[in-house]
Amino acid sequence: MTHIIKVCMGSSCFARGNAKNLQIIQNFIEQHGLDAQVELTGLRCCGSCSAGPNIYIDDEAFHNLDQGSVLDILEHKFNV
Ligand code: FES
Repeated sequence: MTHIIKVCMGSSCFARGNAKNLQIIQNFIEQHGLDAQVELTGLRCCGSCSAGPNIYIDDEAFHNLDQGSVLDILEHKFNV
């Protein structure tokens, strides 16, 4: 099954953590050999800046993410 990860790259989310979170996601995909299972895309501002940084995985929204919570979510989602 392919998982679709969308990272908000709007200026607020980007500045508040998604620049770093994107790197963490890319590293996680590479480290665990998940290239074939993940489609990673960026989004423009999705209108929820105050809840950001925002990431969507298979259209489930995750808010207020930092590096630790991003890793927790990915490990849970991919069972690694
Ligand atoms: S910049 Fe991400 S919701 Fe606005």
